[in-house]
Amino acid sequence: MTQQFTDRRGRAVVLEEITDDNWRDVADVAPADGQRRFVAALAARYLLLSQRGGVWTSLGVRAGEAVVGHVMWAHDDEDGTHWIGGMVVDAAEQGTGVGRAALGAVVARLSALPECREIRLSCHPDNASAAALYASFGFRPTGDHEDDETVMALPAV
Ligand SMILES: CC(C)(COP(=O)(O)OP(=O)(O)OC[C@H]1O[C@@H](n2cnc3c(N)ncnc32)[C@H](O)[C@@H]1OP(=O)(O)O)[C@@H](O)C(=O)NCCC(=O)NCCS
Repeated sequence: MTQQFTDRRGRAVVLEEITDDNWRDVADVAPADGQRRFVAALAARYLLLSQRGGVWTSLGVRAGEAVVGHVMWAHDDEDGTHWIGGMVVDAAEQGTGVGRAALGAVVARLSALPECREIRLSCHPDNASAAALYASFGFRPTGDHEDDETVMALPAV
């Protein structure tokens, strides 16, 4: 059975492919001003990275009727790990359980892939709220760094 994820307002939180219908709303997803040191100022940057780079796959995060966030994933062909990146919940929607539900949904999606053996992400050491969210899922620091960010990993179950 497909796992369901909801925020604390009771809205169903789902991940959706980027389409002609939703890309504008996903592109407009923006963090709070003070969070721009941790992520891009607009999710549009991540959409372009996914479109141009051929490495990442962007997904929109929908809560009920509204597009409220962005997340992307990738597979590292060298070491076989899967990665989560570009996790942003729109500033107006933060603190209501969307991030927790979206992370649960993307972890479930990647964990369901037969070849998935470890999920990784990176997080700025000052980004305490994101680090707490990741730690609560079981992500632990690997000791590696990506630029100025700490790499965290979740072994596949
Ligand atoms: C990190 C982020 C995705 C979390 O999304 P969210 O919808 O605000 O988070 P939730 O409401 O689901 O809260 C999940 C957990 O995050 C942490 N958290 C969220 N807001 C917090 C705050 N203001 N202070 C401390 N911890 C906080 C808590 O551990 C919380 O746990 P809980 O579910 O037990 O309350 C969101 O804050 C965001 O987009 N931040 C800016 C971009 C960013 O930093 N992305 C991560 C890059 S590594």
